[in-house]
Amino acid sequence: MKIAVGSDHGGFELKKLIVQFLGELGQEVESVGCHSLESVDYPDFAEKVCTAVQTGACDCGILICGTGIGMSIAANRHKEIRAALCHEAFTARMSREHNNANVLCLGERVIGSEVALDIVRTWVATEFAGGRHQKRLDMFS
Ligand code: RB5
Repeated sequence: MKIAVGSDHGGFELKKLIVQFLGELGQEVESVGCHSLESVDYPDFAEKVCTAVQTGACDCGILICGTGIGMSIAANRHKEIRAALCHEAFTARMSREHNNANVLCLGERVIGSEVALDIVRTWVATEFAGGRHQKRLDMFS
């Protein structure tokens, strides 16, 4: 699986951990920035990750900001993007199984790094269940 990963300055440190962790899991990663703690605007990085998913350049994406809220709001404005803001592994799993989330959003200032990696591990390992859940997703289009 190829995963686009992006953050603003508020998610920069967690992004570095997640990029390394995804590599250890054997996932292919495309890191779209940001590349330092210098202040940037989260919608720019949400757009980069969402475009990678929309075009098929990447299978899914992960976005990190301070709270995860700005990234999730920005990502969900993009067509065909289903972004889920998760704070623990259960909702991360359900966002894949029931909602077929194709972007995971995390808040570096909200959750600890071990919880974040647990969420990422769960999210990338979980498949969409389809069936009745697909019918509901079809209602968005
Ligand atoms: C940046 O200070 C912060 O506002 C941003 O990372 C994010 O939390 C916005 O939702």
